Amino acid sequence: MIRVCFVCLGNICRSPTAEGVMRHLVAEAGLEEHIHIESAGTGGWHAGEPPDRRSTAAAAARGIRVDGRAQQFLADDFARFDHVLAMDGDNLRDLRRIAPSPDLAAAVQLLRSYDASAPKDADVPDPYYGGPSGFEDVLNVVQAGCRGLLDALREEHGW
Ligand code: 4NP
Repeated sequence: MIRVCFVCLGNICRSPTAEGVMRHLVAEAGLEEHIHIESAGTGGWHAGEPPDRRSTAAAAARGIRVDGRAQQFLADDFARFDHVLAMDGDNLRDLRRIAPSPDLAAAVQLLRSYDASAPKDADVPDPYYGGPSGFEDVLNVVQAGCRGLLDALREEHGW
């Protein structure tokens, strides 16, 4: 079982969206027994809350379920995951700062690094304070990143 965690700031918009998108792709590929998926936030302000309704609505319009409860990503969580995917450069920096070892810090990646069409160091932009189009943008870039991530995992593990 490969364990993947998507991480943003609040764990109510971008990373739950990535979790839902990835779970959808993994189910389509019939790989549920190979890939465990979670999401978390570098901050704990929203811990225990469901995802933002704007995220669940935008995803539902594409047939994708976004659910779960927010949790904060803590240093001990590095031991639970094979891949930690940050949504933006701030999340990447914050995760690397709390990583228990330099190797684990170096292993954290940006989700969009798996999208060959994305610019280098591209972020999943934070939609929280913007309008509805921001949530569509998040879905578009997250879908591209998750497709690339799944392709990479399939290649690596021969699935
Ligand atoms: P997320 O979005 O990191 O994609 O879940 C945000 C959620 C909450 C806040 C900021 C971003 N906030 O400031 O509370």
